[in-house]
Amino acid sequence: MRKQYLSAPLPFQGQKRMFAKEYIKVLQQFPDGTTFVDLFGGSGLLSHIAKCQKPNSTVVYNDYDGYRQRLEALPVTNALLADLRAMVDIPRHRPILGELRERVLSCIRKYECDNGYIDYVTLSSSILFSMKYANELADLEKETLYNNIKTTDYPQCPDYLDGLTITSCDYREVFERYKDIPGVVFLVDPPYLSTDNKTYKMYWKLSDYLDVLTVLAGHRFIYFTSNKSSILELCEWMGRNKNIGNPFAKCSRCDFNAHMNYNASYTDIMLYTNTA
Ligand SMILES: C[S@@+](CC[C@H](N)C(=O)[O-])C[C@H]1O[C@@H](n2cnc3c(N)ncnc32)[C@H](O)[C@@H]1O
Repeated sequence: MRKQYLSAPLPFQGQKRMFAKEYIKVLQQFPDGTTFVDLFGGSGLLSHIAKCQKPNSTVVYNDYDGYRQRLEALPVTNALLADLRAMVDIPRHRPILGELRERVLSCIRKYECDNGYIDYVTLSSSILFSMKYANELADLEKETLYNNIKTTDYPQCPDYLDGLTITSCDYREVFERYKDIPGVVFLVDPPYLSTDNKTYKMYWKLSDYLDVLTVLAGHRFIYFTSNKSSILELCEWMGRNKNIGNPFAKCSRCDFNAHMNYNASYTDIMLYTNTA
């Protein structure tokens, strides 16, 4: 029997580990052999669990962020973190300052030079303040570094993606490819609207988020959202007001930009109907 992971082997913001047990129960209603398509695969956790639970199913993992590459680099990541752990002789959660900081940065630079790739997401969770992420060395160099390095290696997980059909493209393309498979179940866990998406590749605005709803209609799905997005409230409201359409469709618009300080601003908008 293969090992089933209930959390992703490497850090991933937004992974659904807290749903793992309930998700396993939900999967039981589908027969083994059902096709599952994980449109927003992220860490691959939902795909991995689906394949463990339904070994005869085709499970498509859309690895949009290149999590695979992070898993492949795990031995290098562990080696880098082991070197940093030995070097950083200050208590955990304290800032890494001065000459020690320079040594840490040059160690990372050397690993990047030697290996051509660094898993900056895992590295960020080891030496940046909680929830801060850098995507490259230049980003790291601007930040205060902290000793958040795990005391042990990340475990090797060579079989984590075993048996999955892996793609890496926009969810709409994946949806088009699989939408006509009989009984297909879409796993739909889009980026949250109002949370920090720094480690993902793109910024999601409301219309992107609403577009996802079009793939749900007429298909079986398991959908994840958060109360921060208010999407359920919006859908319930639309269900009650089916014929309203867009009340602003024929309006004129006037924007007013307000600056609160040097990096915070917002736009007030006036919309008005035209008599003509
Ligand atoms: C909330 S996360 C999914 C987490 C995943 N279910 C897990 O348990 O790890 C949303 C993912 O969608 C990805 N994403 C963003 N835009 C996308 C797009 N246009 N097509 C497919 N995936 C996209 C993000 O990069 C992120 O990995």
